Parts: sequence; structure tokens; C-alpha cells
Amino acid sequence: EKRRLDEREELHGIMDLAVGFYREALERSEEGGTARRYLEGRGVDRATAEAYCLGFAPDRWDFLARHLQHRSVPLELAEKLGLVRRRDGGGFYDTFRNRLLFTITDIHGRAIGFGGRVLDDSLPKYINSPESPIYHKSEVLFGVSLAKGAMRETASAIVVEGYFDHLALYQAGVRNVVATCGTALTEGHIKLLKRYAGNVYTLFDADSAGRKATLRAMDLCLDAGFPAHVVELTAGEDPDSFIRKEGAETFSARLAKARPVVDYFFRQLVRDEDTGTVEGKVKVIDEMAPRLARVSNAIERELYVREISRVLGVDVRSLARKIGGSSSPAA
Ligand code: UTP
Ligand code: MN
Ligand code: MN
Ligand code: MN
Ligand code: MN
Repeated sequence: EKRRLDEREELHGIMDLAVGFYREALERSEEGGTARRYLEGRGVDRATAEAYCLGFAPDRWDFLARHLQHRSVPLELAEKLGLVRRRDGGGFYDTFRNRLLFTITDIHGRAIGFGGRVLDDSLPKYINSPESPIYHKSEVLFGVSLAKGAMRETASAIVVEGYFDHLALYQAGVRNVVATCGTALTEGHIKLLKRYAGNVYTLFDADSAGRKATLRAMDLCLDAGFPAHVVELTAGEDPDSFIRKEGAETFSARLAKARPVVDYFFRQLVRDEDTGTVEGKVKVIDEMAPRLARVSNAIERELYVREISRVLGVDVRSLARKIGGSSSPAA
């Protein structure tokens, strides 16, 4: 056990070293110029770059590997962090090359991984550190250490998809934000958010992937009894692009119009199904019933039942009966 703790400390130390080398490369090296210009182009200022510990991985196979070797770091440990990979013929090469790096931190702000973006349109757009002894993806949300104070103050958390979404909101002064960074929201994430906030807002990209992620996240929140709202953006936008185009005030207005989870589900269904037909109505009710059953506040549930039966033109009592019959939460 002691051995494992020591190794974790050592891994944290290697991450700190890597952050230092990559920060230096971004801020001061000549080859970092392209990354500095890229950030300028996206409107990222110096203070923000520092808050996020942004870095640059130069376009070389051994930038980090050599720096670590000079510090006598065993590269086998850097490999455990996914910072270097094993070469077929022996030795190691850098994982992150010619990429802008976001430092992923734990709740205390300690570096545990990187997300690296290309500086042009090549693919994959981002590569991310793998799981490691100090990075458990199902328990970590990007930006949580920057957000925890504001989540407590506002008693709410905004969940976005991307690194730049997080950064854009931060720069605009919206601080109670965390990002899922391409992974699905998990129960572990919800547990983490519940420590700080009593309410969650999802603010995912306005595309089909974002909509799917929203529906999944809403079901998860319903299961966890965690009050949730959905913020919808103009089609094709994400929080970063939206706030840049529309400004912080329009953004706040959108936030204020966030829809409660049941309301959101119902609207989506009514949009997608033909509620002019019996079949369409049945489909909507089949989808809504188990979700209504999970609304823990009885008054709230009753109000939704009334509203939905009115809109669909079905008897309130038969909808209520249907809900009574669908699986309700365990307490
Ligand atoms: P998006 O494709 O929406 O990218 O992916 P983005 O965040 O808007 O990035 P920019 O604005 O073009 O720079 C959302 C998130 O999904 C993860 C990243 O965390 C990204 O921020 N992702 C995306 C990956 O991990 N790998 C990818 O190849 C793409
Ligand atoms: Mn852990
Ligand atoms: Mn997207
Ligand atoms: Mn996006
Ligand atoms: Mn984006």
C-alpha cells in the first residue's frame, strides 16, 4: 500500500514536470509561436492561459522524453501516464506532438492528464491522456477545481462538452462550469457535482451528438434525483461559438430559459412524434411515464401529469394510472 502511494506521488511529480515543460514551450519558445497565435485567434488572453495551465507540445518525437530523461525520470512511469509510448525497436516517443495542451486537474487542482488539440483541421482533433493510477475518467470532470467555489456560491453547476466551451465561459465570467470532454456523464460525475451543487444545467453542443448526450444526462439526473435543466443553443453552435457571436448577455438570457428535465423530454417527444395520431400519442406517453414516475416531488409530478394529459387529450386518471404502474424510484 505504501509502495502504491509513493508511486502515485511520483506520478503527480512527473505530471507537474510535464506541465512546466509544456507551459514554457507555449509561453517562451520560438516553436510555440504557432500555438500562441492560435490562442490569440480564439481570443484567449494570457491570464486565462495561465489559469488553465495551457501548454504546447512541440512537433518533435522526443521533446518531453528528453526533458524527463535529463531529470532522471524513469520513462516507464511516464508511460503509465500515457505521456510517452514504447517504440517497437526499444525506447519511448512522445504521445503529444504539435498540439495545444489543456491540463486536466483533479478536484484539488493537481495535474492528472492532458487534452491536446491540433492547431489546424487535421484529425483526430483532440487526443486525451488515458486512464492511469492518478486519472480515473469516470470520476473527473474537466475544470472542477476552477469551478468548485462558484458551484457552491450559486448552488448550481453547468455542464458543457468541450475544453474551449469551459474556457470561453470562464473568460466571460461564468465560473460554475465543468466539462465532460467527449465522455458520457457518469454516476460518479453526478455524485461529484452533488457535493457542490443542488441543481445541474446541461449546455451541450446544438448538434445530434449533443442532443443524445443531453437525453442520457437527463435520465441519469432523474435516476439520481438530481434536479436538472437543459439549456438549448441555436442549431450548430456550442457554448464557445455562441457566446462569441451573441455575447454574454444573450447567453445569460438563454440560461434563464433553461427547461426542467421533464419539460425538455416532453418537448423533444412532441417535436419528433406525430401527436395527431393515436400511435404518436401512445409513443409519447410510453416514453414519458417512466420519467414522470421518477419525479420525486408529488406536486410537481401532478402538475406535469395534468399538463401532458391536457396537451395530448388523454384522461388525467389514465395517465396517472400508467405512471403508477411504471417503475418508480426506490424511495
Ligand atoms: P467538439 O467536436 O464539439 O469540439 O468535441 P470542441 O470542444 O467544440 O472543440 P473546438 O472548439 O473545435 O476546439 C467536444 C469535446 O469532445 C472531446 C474534447 O474534449 C472536445 O472538447 N473530443 C472531441 C475528443 O476527445 N476527441 C476528438 O477528436 C473530438
Ligand atoms: Mn482515485
Ligand atoms: Mn460537438
Ligand atoms: Mn463543440
Ligand atoms: Mn467548439
